[in-house]
Amino acid sequence: MVKVNVGGCSSFVKDAEYQKYVGKALEAFDVLESGSGAGNDFLGWKTLPVDTPDSLIADCEAIRDAWAEKGVELVVVIGIGGSYLGARCAIEALSHGFVRKEGVPQIAFAGNNLSEDYLAELMDLARMRSTACVVISKSGTTTEPAVAFRIVKEYLEKTYGKAEAATRIVAITDAKKGALKTLATQEGYKTFVVPDNVGGRYSVLTPVGILPIVLAGFDMRAMLRGAAEEREALLAKSADNPAVQYAAMRNLLYSGLGKKVEILVTFNPKLQYLGEWWKQLYGESEGKECKGIFPASVVCTTDLHSMGQFIQEGDRVLFETTVTVKNASREMVIGFDSQNLDQLNYLAGQRVEHCNKMAQLGTQLAHIDGGVPQMEVSVEKLDEASLGALFYFFEFACGVSAYTLGINPFNQPGVEAYKKNMFALLRKPGFEAQTEEILKRIQ
Ligand code: PA5
Repeated sequence: MVKVNVGGCSSFVKDAEYQKYVGKALEAFDVLESGSGAGNDFLGWKTLPVDTPDSLIADCEAIRDAWAEKGVELVVVIGIGGSYLGARCAIEALSHGFVRKEGVPQIAFAGNNLSEDYLAELMDLARMRSTACVVISKSGTTTEPAVAFRIVKEYLEKTYGKAEAATRIVAITDAKKGALKTLATQEGYKTFVVPDNVGGRYSVLTPVGILPIVLAGFDMRAMLRGAAEEREALLAKSADNPAVQYAAMRNLLYSGLGKKVEILVTFNPKLQYLGEWWKQLYGESEGKECKGIFPASVVCTTDLHSMGQFIQEGDRVLFETTVTVKNASREMVIGFDSQNLDQLNYLAGQRVEHCNKMAQLGTQLAHIDGGVPQMEVSVEKLDEASLGALFYFFEFACGVSAYTLGINPFNQPGVEAYKKNMFALLRKPGFEAQTEEILKRIQ
């Protein structure tokens, strides 16, 4: 289960102020729980841990087994934003950093950018491997995944023939509408549905996350169990509720102290994509109406040698939330060297993780001294259950936090602005009127 510690903020805030924000967060908790707030038609994510049928996971396992039988070595997962970040976060957190699991296909992500080099290199890999593809788009109309899918689909059909290619493609999209739905129906692809009442960035526990995570060889039942336990822990309306504490403190730091930037910190590089997933969740949920905390992320100690100077002494608009994994999964002890030329014998016999934990503690203390309030979100170990708990915790806390700020956490009107310009510049049918106007602006 997820624990929250706001103690590293105590030298910056008065307890009475914090209690005031706890009161506001508890009101927001009621709004989220009663479903009475803005965007309340997008609350389906709240019960996913308990109402996802086992048959859905079994269906995903059947695809995994069928593709294993065909000898599939590479699965290209196509999607952008909420349609890939959760799966990527889970797969990177749980996978061996260097060695691929025997009998499990490599998972490569595409459709999250429009870089020609990226796609060309991915297709170089596809030509070396027996390949299958999962294409994910809730709306079914997003340009980046559509471009990647057109290229991968053409390759699969040329390489394996149309009928076999259709068995190597799974689509995850809306139940009824969108170009991807039409295409998948016409081509006879196996299809999973993204529920109407779950927005993209809250969809990791739907087929959007479940299928890629199962294909990568991980235990989705354990992840849902972890999320269900976390849900249970967050149901209590109380000042001790960790989501309420996190939401209250970040709102106080933002509105009361002018801390406009929250950095999600991890001391485990496997969690780099937790930062990416969290940034989308909080950035898209709260960054509206000229309000919102800017979400950033760092991986330490790596980034202490790049971002550390700014965090310690730059503009004091920052606070940090460190996601701590209490126990490393492996054990590595630093050896004794009789020559001690590197002068490291003072660490002989210590675990590397002990050094990591001391680096974390030292960093947190230094950053408090530098004027950067500290929160901590911790789990016991890095496994499917604790990732499920982290996903649920951050989603729930995001709802509470955004409602505390007076923002609808479940829409993203600002994401459309770049698309209109891009479509006009690409001369997409229907955007002709804007094209001339845009061309004048860039001359
Ligand atoms: O959270 C969101 O809704 C967005 O980030 C979407 O996930 C992203 O834009 C991709 O949309 P779609 O799945 O419709 O292609």
